[in-house]
Formats: sequence, structure tokens, C-alpha cells
Amino acid sequence: MCGIVGYLGDKQAYPILIKGLKRLEYRGYDSAGCALLNENLELKVYKTKGKVSSLEEYCKDKDVSGTLGIAHTRWATHGEPNDTNAHPHYSQSKNLALIHNGIIENYLSIKQMLTKNGYKFQSQTDTEVLVQAIEFVKTKYDCSLFEAVKRTLHFVIGAYAICVIEKGKNDTLVAARKGSPLIVGIGEGDFFIGSDATPIVEYTNNVIYLDDEEVVLLEKGNRPLINTINNEEIEHDISKIELELNDIEKQGYPHFMLKEIFEQPKSFDLCMNGRLNVEKKEIKLSGIIDHIDKFKQCNKIIITACGTSWHAGLIGKYLFEEFCRIPVVVEVASEFRYRNPVIKQGDILIPISQSGETADTLAAIELARKKGAFIYGICNVVGSSIARATDSGTYTHAGPEIGVASTKAFTTQVIVLTMMALSIGKELKTITNEKYESIVKELCNINEKVESILEKAKEIEQISKIFTYARNFMYLGRGYNYPVALEGALKLKEISYIHAEGYPAAEMKHGPIALIDDEMPCVVIAPLLKTYEKVLSNIEEIRSRKGKIIAIVTQGDKDIKNIADMCFEIPQTEECLTSILSVIPLQLFSYYVAVEKGRDVDQPRNLAKSVTVE
Ligand code: M6R
Repeated sequence: MCGIVGYLGDKQAYPILIKGLKRLEYRGYDSAGCALLNENLELKVYKTKGKVSSLEEYCKDKDVSGTLGIAHTRWATHGEPNDTNAHPHYSQSKNLALIHNGIIENYLSIKQMLTKNGYKFQSQTDTEVLVQAIEFVKTKYDCSLFEAVKRTLHFVIGAYAICVIEKGKNDTLVAARKGSPLIVGIGEGDFFIGSDATPIVEYTNNVIYLDDEEVVLLEKGNRPLINTINNEEIEHDISKIELELNDIEKQGYPHFMLKEIFEQPKSFDLCMNGRLNVEKKEIKLSGIIDHIDKFKQCNKIIITACGTSWHAGLIGKYLFEEFCRIPVVVEVASEFRYRNPVIKQGDILIPISQSGETADTLAAIELARKKGAFIYGICNVVGSSIARATDSGTYTHAGPEIGVASTKAFTTQVIVLTMMALSIGKELKTITNEKYESIVKELCNINEKVESILEKAKEIEQISKIFTYARNFMYLGRGYNYPVALEGALKLKEISYIHAEGYPAAEMKHGPIALIDDEMPCVVIAPLLKTYEKVLSNIEEIRSRKGKIIAIVTQGDKDIKNIADMCFEIPQTEECLTSILSVIPLQLFSYYVAVEKGRDVDQPRNLAKSVTVE
């Protein structure tokens, strides 16, 4: 949450910062701001409520010159989204300006101490406390900005990725991180800072990933100097960003979400590439091969994640229990981390995360590690905090996902979980060869089926137009499609702001059926699987209470077609793969409903893509 970007070099910083902020806007869009050092070495801060475009408008007649600058796009935590609470924040003397992503948990006690020392505060943010504290320490110890940042971060509790610059010093930028992401880009004679690689990739592929409690001093003409907050000098290898500029642009689509839905066949190819051998009909995941003994010996698997990734985790439980016969529990990370869960030596934790930065999932990893679990991650973003915190894992390789509503990340997570369950099941001999080969063959063909669904997007668009009146929706599914019901409901809620509930279809009778009337549309995921007849009965129960039915059915279905108000057909596939197909019409449905209602699809209200605070 919150995007930070910085530049130090010979080019004009402002255009680089604005472009970078636009790329990071998915991380928060309550307000935006920048700080620049002009050639007179004056430190100027410009900030305003609203999106990056509002900042551009605000800066039109301002002096935005300078070759050193930092900029921020905010997702509000402490203090409402307004001009004053927007970042950057000045220190008392206006000699320092700072941007921050994260939460300073002990900001109140630091504020009290500073107030006693005569400091005054303009905003309601925890961030302003941090910049004031750095100034306080700098004055008290008469030290450099780099030293002051290290000393201050010693008494800071919480999460931070920060950048600080100083009046009079247009050749120095100091940045630090703990618990929130921060990447340093090394250009030719210049440096870049980003919350992720997207603001950097256009200028350089060479980056350094800072670790927690590390502070970097960037100075023109010098190599980056990295210290821990305890003053130990650190050397990091320079990593290469594997990201194409095309991947982070809309390429003619009106929204990133639509682009990402349509990109799924390409993402599936990337996800299975080198792992699924079509000719040999086999799967090879290096992480699983390297650690197969751990899976063979484990007593249980715990899957943990948030939001959409948690829904993928629920499908993982069905897969691992069916094909590996290993007991699985699936835990929402924010709950798991504050319980006292039973984890024994040899248990395996599988955290799942698109961004690899979700604070609760990271904390769940730390808890499970302390209790002796082996950590096997499923992540999309290469080099992310979660990827680096795990013992091993498998990347989904879905490509950058920028729309706040997760789409291709979900389906590729399900593909990775399927490949894992098949690989482990084969080793454990808990899956027959026939079943294994049949699912592998089907995975090889899945893209044709996905394409056939995407070709019918117009059908979904038509259906969505009929239902924009609704204020509530019910989503029902069973087995592998129960998590799809949860996912469909979440997609609709987050981008169209329509209330939606996902339920296991048979559970409806235990309460939610009371909600059904002629104004309640029910999306029923009802492909031809072993529970087909049961779901058919559930549909009858809704119909007899005048509920409207939109059904996702298998091609050629007759029975449900006769009773549902609307039907969308998906191709037949292996039962364990149906979720990959059935979720796509639901992604499209929520997209078209949101567009029809005029919503901001890629940047829905109150949300941010990467939830780096708890
Ligand atoms: O990056 P992660 O997969 O860890 O993110 C988890 C959730 O924040 C995320 O899936 C969220 O629910 C999405 N907005 C759903 O579309």
C-alpha cells in the first residue's frame, strides 16, 4: 500500500517521478505528492488529495526543476485523505522531506517525546512523526542524514519503506526498509527507487533488493552504501529485473483488468513452460523435486493467504487431499498469525501471494517458521518479500498484475497448486497413472478451452447489462467450484460495489435462502460434475422462491438450461480443473457490471493492490 519512487542523477527528476507514480498508482490513490531539490538547492514539496493526475494539474505552474526528487501515492492509514496528510512530509525546519509506505506503530510515544522538545505537527499521520524524529536525532547528534536515519530507525516499531532528502544536498538520497518493499535501481550515473520494479524498468534492469532494517545512502558518483540500522556494512549482489515494458502497459485495452483476463492463456503458457512436458506427459517442478522428502514425510500442510489467494488455497486443499492424501488446513493469514496454531516440526506451510508483499501472509510465515514448519511459497512477483522469506517455492509467472482485482494471478495459482499436487501424488503413489496422465493431458489443452470462453465475452457483457439493477447477489458452487463462488462474489464486490455472498450451494438452506426473492440474482456454478444433480435441486429451491438464476454450465447441458434465466456454457474438463474455466465468466461478469455502472475498474475505492499493512 502506497507507492514510493525516487530519482537521483543528471536528468530532470519530475517527469520520471510522475511516470513512476502512475505505474505505482495501483498501490493507493488517495493523494499524491513529490519533493524536489532545485538548482538553488531549495527543497520544494507539492502534494494534493486525489490521483496522480491531480498532482500534475496542481504542479502545472510550479517550479518542478531539479535532478533529485522523491514522490508518493497514498493509501490512507493514519489521517483522512487530504492535502495535509498527503506525502511528502517536511520536518519542522523544512530542511528534510520524507515519503513512507507502512505504519509506525509507536508513533504516539515518539510524538509525545518530540512535542516535549518543542516539535509541532501539521498532519495526523505517523509519517510526519518519523521525519521530525530524524531531524531531532540529526540535530541532537550533529550527524549526517544517513546516520540520523539509522539511529532513528532503532527506536521505531512498525513497517516502513522510506526515502528522505535534505535541503542544500542535491547529490544525496537516503532510503530504508522494514516489512514494506523497496528496490534500488542502478542506472548509468543515476539511481532510482521504487516500491516495485515498474517505475525503474524503463531506465535500467540492474537492481538491488534491500532487506529488512537496511538503510542505503545514494550519492552521485559513488556506489550505493548499505548499512543495517546497527551499522553493519552490507554487500548485495545486483539482480536483473525480468520485466518487459509491454507487460505494464494497457496495450489498447480500456482497463488493465480486461487485459489481464484476456492474457490468461499467455500466463498459463508461462506458468507451465519448462514444467509440463507435453510429449512425456509429465510435470517437473524443481522446488518439489528438491524437497520431495519433506512432502513425503509431512503430517499436514497448512495453506495460508488473503483474499483471492486464499480462495486459490481452498482449491489447493481439495487438490492435495484428493491426489496426495495429505491433510490440509487453509487459513486466512490475518487470523492464523494471531492464534496459537498447532504446527509441528515437519509440517509444511504454503503461503500464496500474488504480490509477495502482503503483511499478514509475511507474518504468518514468520510464525510458522518459529514453530519449525518448512515454508514452500507460491508467489507471482519475483524477488518479492514473501518469495525471499520462504525456504523454497514455485513462481506462478503470470506476468505483472496491475488491476486491483486479481484475475490471472488466481488461475495461475490454481495451476501451480495442481502441478504440485500431481507431482507429489505421483511420488507418493496416491494417484493412479491413468488419472495423472489424463489431468496432465488436459492441462496441456486447457488454453484452447480458455480461448473458447474468452471468444464469448460479448455474451457475458449482454448478461451483465440485465443485472446492473441488483443491489445484492448470491454466488453458489460445490466442491472445486465452491471457492469459485467466493471468488466470483469478491470480484463483484470490489469493483462494482454491489453486495455479494459466496456460499457452498447446499449450505444455502441453512440461512441465506431467507434472502432470496424476485430481486435477488443467484450465480450458480453448475458444471457437469459429481454433484450436478444436487446443484440442480438447489437451483429448483431458488426458483420456487422467485430468485433469478444465472448458471455456468457445461457445454451441451440441457436440464439446467431449461430452468435457469440465463446460462453461460464452458467446455467440459477434468473435475479438478473446472475452477480454472468457471472463474473466467465470473471475472468478465464483474468487469462488465462495473463498467456499466461507471466504476473505476482498475482503481476501485478504498482498495490497494498490495496490502503491506495489517
Ligand atoms: O498479493 P496477494 O495475493 O497476497 O494479495 C491478497 C489480497 O489482498 C488480494 O487477493 C485481494 O483480495 C484482491 N484485491 C482480490 O481481487
